Amino acid sequence: MRAPAQPSKPSSLRVELGPADNARRALLAAAIVGAPALWLGARAQPAPARIATPAQTEGPFYPVRLPQDADHDLLQNGTLRYGRGQPAWVDGTVTDLDGKPLRGAQVEIWQCDENGHYHHPGDGDRADAAFQGFGRVAVGDDGRYRFRTIRPVPYSGRTPHIHVKVKLGGRELLTTQLYVAGDPGNARDGLWRRLPEAARDAVTVPFERGADGLRARFPIVVAA
Ligand SMILES: [Fe+2]
Repeated sequence: MRAPAQPSKPSSLRVELGPADNARRALLAAAIVGAPALWLGARAQPAPARIATPAQTEGPFYPVRLPQDADHDLLQNGTLRYGRGQPAWVDGTVTDLDGKPLRGAQVEIWQCDENGHYHHPGDGDRADAAFQGFGRVAVGDDGRYRFRTIRPVPYSGRTPHIHVKVKLGGRELLTTQLYVAGDPGNARDGLWRRLPEAARDAVTVPFERGADGLRARFPIVVAA
């Protein structure tokens, strides 16, 4: 008795393998052979250690009362539009020491207006009403945040800086200050000078010209 005939493969599988498919197969085979070595290599080299963003003093001008408009856009306070200074995006991520996004975290910034004044009774409440001066955002699932503001300016005794605070739930995880790379005032600023070099680098970022004003990328790393 004859064995039943093997069903033949659909002809399309046989005829559609041209030189390109052979090359793809060879690449795939190489990838499979090489994968364990790559995997072992990745395990053998630990990820570079992340440095926690250094803390800095809160300073005397954290708002006594948060403004009604406290969103990401410091150039729009209620119905008023602030047109002074150099507009800038400040954005980045909030991660833990392992690089994981810190979901649920809030980032706050506050800074003086173009004339060097804060919305604060300790500074005579002289800040421009159109400058929001304070903003708060929740980070996305990817840890990202962003603010629209101005490039910070100097005021008496201080180099340009933006105050930054990170909260998670009711906890304050970090209070720090962000500085402008290359600003000549940095070297004369007591708080900036006091930082070790690696810590300075972590809080001093360039404000670079982009299509929509300046942009500063400030990655924040917290020990959650
Ligand atoms: Fe300040």
